[in-house]
Amino acid sequence: MKKDTFVLGIETSCDETAVAIIKNGTEIVTNIVSSQIESHKRFGGVVPEIASRHHVEQVTFVLEEALQQGNMTMEDIDCIAVTEGPGLVGALLIGVNAAKALAFAHNKPLVGVHHIAGHIYANRLVKEMIFPLLSLVVSGGHTELVLMKEHGSFQVIGETRDDAAGEAYDKVARTLSLPYPGGPHIDRLAQEGQPTLDLPRAWLEEGSYDFSFSGLKSAVINTLHNAKQKGDTIHPQDLAASFQASVIEVLVTKTLKATKEYDVKQVLLAGGVAANKGLRASLDEAFNHVDAELVIPPLSLCTDNAAMIAAAGTVLFEQGKRGSMDMNANPGLDIENF
Ligand code: KG4
Ligand code: ZN
Repeated sequence: MKKDTFVLGIETSCDETAVAIIKNGTEIVTNIVSSQIESHKRFGGVVPEIASRHHVEQVTFVLEEALQQGNMTMEDIDCIAVTEGPGLVGALLIGVNAAKALAFAHNKPLVGVHHIAGHIYANRLVKEMIFPLLSLVVSGGHTELVLMKEHGSFQVIGETRDDAAGEAYDKVARTLSLPYPGGPHIDRLAQEGQPTLDLPRAWLEEGSYDFSFSGLKSAVINTLHNAKQKGDTIHPQDLAASFQASVIEVLVTKTLKATKEYDVKQVLLAGGVAANKGLRASLDEAFNHVDAELVIPPLSLCTDNAAMIAAAGTVLFEQGKRGSMDMNANPGLDIENF
């Protein structure tokens, strides 16, 4: 009988310090996330220096808690997987150095994982992957359509040319004086309003799977500004609903088109914005009559966590990929070549 594989994942690319242990790439043994959101809230966004300091303070505690909760010691672990990039360089460095120290001290193999590959592999903790598949990645830093023909191979067929979807959510939220991170607040307001305002949809040139959200963000800011000057009232609920309708229409239409063109068997939703209720419902409805299977992870696996890093790391480990002791944080890591 094949021995079970246990991979320990570490994620520190942004504002969550996270450690998880995954069995055979598909089963969560333990998944600990320590969020710093409260510390960044008063600044209206993530402050890189504060994020790094928190990671330094938290990483050992989170690691100990993960092992304790999983009832395991480092002896039981087969490999250590860590987010190598992209992300905030000072934040990534903490995870990478913690992983290297652990690998060295316990003589364990190490693998570097691309953060977005991790978000995609969060889906494998829900459903086995069927290739070819398409993943719609919508996070605070990325908006991409990624085609996968097999495990560990990623082809970006479309990406944002300016703001990421989550970034647009956060900026629009800030304009409405909502707290950071703004995505969940806009999502909540949108459920209470109607999409009555006419906001643009950036389709870009025919056949392109790229995205652009900065024009939409500016349109929201201009709409608010003009209304203020004229003394008109705009209900924030309606503005949120109109903004959300524009984002979702573009995301869903392009995902559906790519699903047909590439004839994929599965469509996976990934990234923090995958927690968006409106997006989840629209995708569900759009894929009702499509042969490809739609997989949407639970909310806890959509936002940053280390279970997804360990899940992607398991595949890389099984494929024989290894990181060395000179691994460095790489904020510009390329998902197609890592
Ligand atoms: O993937 P993630 O946790 O971090 C990055 O890798 O960027 O994504 C964070 C982003 C933030 O921009 C946050 O506002 C957004 O995900 N987000 C949402 C929702 N929940 C989180 N955006 C829209 N609706 C939500 N419900
Ligand atoms: Zn993320």
